[in-house]
Amino acid sequence: MLIRDETPDDHRAIHGVVDAAFAHMPYSNQKEGDLVDALRGAGALTLSLVAEEAGEILGHVAVSPVTIDGAALGWFGLGPLAVLPARQRQGVGSALIEAALSRLRAAGAAGCVVFGEPAFYGRFGFAKFDGLCFAGGPPELFLGLSFGPETPRGSVDYHPSFALVG
Ligand SMILES: CC(C)(COP(=O)(O)OP(=O)(O)OC[C@H]1O[C@@H](n2cnc3c(N)ncnc32)[C@H](O)[C@@H]1OP(=O)(O)O)[C@@H](O)C(=O)NCCC(=O)NCCS
Repeated sequence: MLIRDETPDDHRAIHGVVDAAFAHMPYSNQKEGDLVDALRGAGALTLSLVAEEAGEILGHVAVSPVTIDGAALGWFGLGPLAVLPARQRQGVGSALIEAALSRLRAAGAAGCVVFGEPAFYGRFGFAKFDGLCFAGGPPELFLGLSFGPETPRGSVDYHPSFALVG
């Protein structure tokens, strides 16, 4: 399995993988594929990584910038993260997260937030981050990971595409 940046030829396949992954998720609005397209269209896809095997896209992760109290402090939001249902629980999602975090660190990012299950994201270092808050959902599912000594405080906002589409 290869983790690589998306190319224009991948856009349709990514949309399909994201839609398939979220199709039966109770918390989904079934618009995650559109959200990835909107982020791309807005120039806000900081990272768009695919997991490919034998020419097939098995999974995808998007990373976009977030603000803290309205300021761009080098923090990013991970998600949506999607793996084809038939290929879940085989390490694809973990490989995508690790690649995304490694890319962010190498690029000098300050940190990353994610909205999701602590039981899953905790294994990559995400944890409840005192000082960062998020109005978009239950606080116990909002997690942060600082890549340096910074411990920013404030309210986190994702890119406006999340409110428009997501
Ligand atoms: C979440 C998702 C991306 C994980 O991808 P994956 O390739 O299945 O993940 P991996 O195989 O790398 O890791 C699976 C491990 O994570 C755990 N895990 C996966 N999703 C989990 C969740 N929601 N809560 C708790 N643990 C979870 C599994 O128990 C498994 O642990 P194990 O290997 O010890 O049994 C995938 O299940 C998916 O696409 N789900 C639908 C879309 C979605 O919910 N995306 C995330 C939104 S925040």
